[in-house]
Amino acid sequence: MNPRIFAPSWEDYELIDAGGGEKLERWGTIVTIRPDINAYFRAEKTKSEWQKTAHFQFKEEKGTYGHWKNLSGIPEKWDVLYQNVRFKIRLKNTKHTGIFPEQTINWEKIKHLTTPETKFLNLFAYTGASSLIAGFMGAQVIHVDSSKSALTWACENFRNNNFSRGKLVYEDALLFMQREMKRKHRYNILQMDPPAWGIGTKGKKWQLEHQLDILLQHAANLLTEDGALLLTTYSPKITPESLGEIAAFIFPTKTVKTGVLCTQSTSGKVLEHGSLLHVL
Ligand SMILES: C[S@@+](CC[C@H](N)C(=O)[O-])C[C@H]1O[C@@H](n2cnc3c(N)ncnc32)[C@H](O)[C@@H]1O
Repeated sequence: MNPRIFAPSWEDYELIDAGGGEKLERWGTIVTIRPDINAYFRAEKTKSEWQKTAHFQFKEEKGTYGHWKNLSGIPEKWDVLYQNVRFKIRLKNTKHTGIFPEQTINWEKIKHLTTPETKFLNLFAYTGASSLIAGFMGAQVIHVDSSKSALTWACENFRNNNFSRGKLVYEDALLFMQREMKRKHRYNILQMDPPAWGIGTKGKKWQLEHQLDILLQHAANLLTEDGALLLTTYSPKITPESLGEIAAFIFPTKTVKTGVLCTQSTSGKVLEHGSLLHVL
């Protein structure tokens, strides 16, 4: 059985409760309700108790899309702090907010591993949380994403933190890795959080289970001898076992750690998010 690995908690984020296909979360002082397929169990509190504390509730309309119902008339944008790093929260029609709060598991690892000599490559880098954490620790940061809106948001987060040393790259992650291999560039830390599927810059649809092996092989080519790979995936098709097996084959001399990434709610519920891989 795969070990559950719990994401460290942080002051500006709290998973208050989960269950009935949804989660109740606090971001700073703002409380939201949004769907989560992994919250298939019964919640600790009733949904009417949830409603009394929530400021926004996501209503699904079509597939993963929907809208946020504003329950208290407050603005839909605000900031949260992770230690000294500021992130802009924005409520998107995909139910996302700009932060994956369980990524504290990687943020803490990055803090632990980064020195001012570190070259940090963040692939599928989204709004730049990990890039900023590495940047604040002094790393040289390359941030790659194939979505222009994600890069614009990351740029805003960089600006709000007066962080100007990060390089933002609009590129398909795999193509970028191939180019970097040709340029013989190497990184001390490589983080990737590939979605179950995505769209590359040339509009080509991308399925993670078809690309995982090559992504890990390229990662091995791009890492320095003592480099670290941090990978999370929310794809239900990729288990920690399969991640561990592929990684052990590709990185035979390294320590491979896998598990199910989880958050524990204040009400005592365990919410599983996906698979975690650390190669050190
Ligand atoms: C799950 S989010 C990553 C979250 C990030 N790790 C964090 O915690 O902030 C996935 C990101 O991958 C990007 N993406 C999807 N397909 C991509 C591709 N082929 N190449 C590069 N980025 C891609 C999306 O635009 C999105 O920003």
